[in-house]
Amino acid sequence: MTTTDVDPGMLAALRGARKLMVLTGAGMSAESGIPTFRDALTGLWRQFDAASLATPDAFRRDPALVWGWYEWRRMKALSAQPNAGHLAIARLASRVEHLSLFTQNVDDLHERAGSHDVQHLHGSLHHPRCADCARPFSLPAAAPVEPEGGRRLAPPSCPACGGPVRPGVVWFNEALPEDVLARAFDACGSCDLLIVVGTSGTVYPVAQLPEVARRAGSRVVQVNPSASELDRVCTWNLRGSAAQMLPALLDRAW
Ligand code: OAD
Repeated sequence: MTTTDVDPGMLAALRGARKLMVLTGAGMSAESGIPTFRDALTGLWRQFDAASLATPDAFRRDPALVWGWYEWRRMKALSAQPNAGHLAIARLASRVEHLSLFTQNVDDLHERAGSHDVQHLHGSLHHPRCADCARPFSLPAAAPVEPEGGRRLAPPSCPACGGPVRPGVVWFNEALPEDVLARAFDACGSCDLLIVVGTSGTVYPVAQLPEVARRAGSRVVQVNPSASELDRVCTWNLRGSAAQMLPALLDRAW
């Protein structure tokens, strides 16, 4: 069912949920000013070539190009603020017995909104590591100051082995963190309600989680101003933005 307003059935499902799972994508951070990936014109993959920036080969070929671009993205993430949608999800945790929050986003806006135990399925801009020995690397406290779109910037060297430090995000052709993905499959297999916010549902294996939830008997609410690949599996498709619809859901439910 597609609707532009919260539906009584949706509200009842939310109020009655003991185990609630939330899964977010880039649309969750759009109203904080962080670009999504596939939206027409504004999407990152419309402006930049994913193959030359977001793969292990790209980093091996030109580490300065890749590191510089991710430092620009990290700067944008640090200069952004959580929006009303992030804050609503943080508030939701005190309304239900158990809430598990999984995100494809690599920013820290859920954390800064007050959400705890945020599970990053595609890693994080804020946790780089050595490309050779995988040791975590501590970034300077000050936010980077980078030109729009980034510049070539040599990555730091690992203090332990001297290898190049790489962004702590999952790149194309890379496996997701196994423990986080396993927790996500467990959560969607046992939750009463899954709320999916701001994802095109085009990147696997995360894109299959809503279907896994439905098959396990959960109901699924999608919050997205546009149609997505997930429309066909969601119980309710709530057409609207994260910062508008999530506070409305909470305010109407309680
Ligand atoms: P996409 O850019 O593919 O999709 C963003 C979705 O958010 C679209 O369906 C938009 O309609 C929706 N949207 C836009 N503004 C919104 C708003 N204000 N509120 C709610 N929804 C809104 O981003 P993802 O689906 O997150 O992978 O992309 C998945 C993965 O592909 C990303 O994690 C990244 C990318 O390549 C990695 O970094 C590994």
